[in-house]
Amino acid sequence: MDEAQQALTRVISRERIHERVRDMARDLSTAFSGKEPLFIGVLNGAVFFLADLVRELTIPCRIDFIKAASYGTGTTSSGKVRLTKEVDLEIGGEDVILVEDIVDTGLTLKSILEQVEQKGPASVHVCALIDKRECRTEEIRVDFSGFEVERGFLVGYGLDCNERHRNLPDIYALG
Ligand code: IMP
Repeated sequence: MDEAQQALTRVISRERIHERVRDMARDLSTAFSGKEPLFIGVLNGAVFFLADLVRELTIPCRIDFIKAASYGTGTTSSGKVRLTKEVDLEIGGEDVILVEDIVDTGLTLKSILEQVEQKGPASVHVCALIDKRECRTEEIRVDFSGFEVERGFLVGYGLDCNERHRNLPDIYALG
């Protein structure tokens, strides 16, 4: 079946998302009190999460983006990670917070972390809206996680399937 016709089952409501994002922003504001962290959003999926998250912070911050292509098409990992947009701001000496929509195998984040760490940041932390454990192959520490999900392919609130469904305000399981 074409994925455009697959059924969507709502798994996380927009209310739960916003409540959790507010909690995460509070935790980040406490953890980075007195600092001005550099949030690096992983395009495209983290755009919605990052935008909501930083607007709830009570500390100053800066924002940049990185883009990694890890999935060619469909719902399974290709296993290959390629950076298609680098960070523009200076990372050296900064407290970096990498913001991901979802961590699945961990391959994307592992590759991004290696590249960011080479630039000499003061610290690097990972903040992911969804920590999906089912297919984890890499040892990745998610420091700030919104929701832990065991399995399934999720769409909505930035998460896509072949660029579809990103704009949905709630999160759905596909199929
Ligand atoms: P990883 O490299 O396997 O950890 O995959 C990370 C990337 O794969 C995420 O940034 C998403 O773009 C994509 N991805 C993994 N699982 C899902 C999902 O359930 N829905 C949508 N995208 C996903």
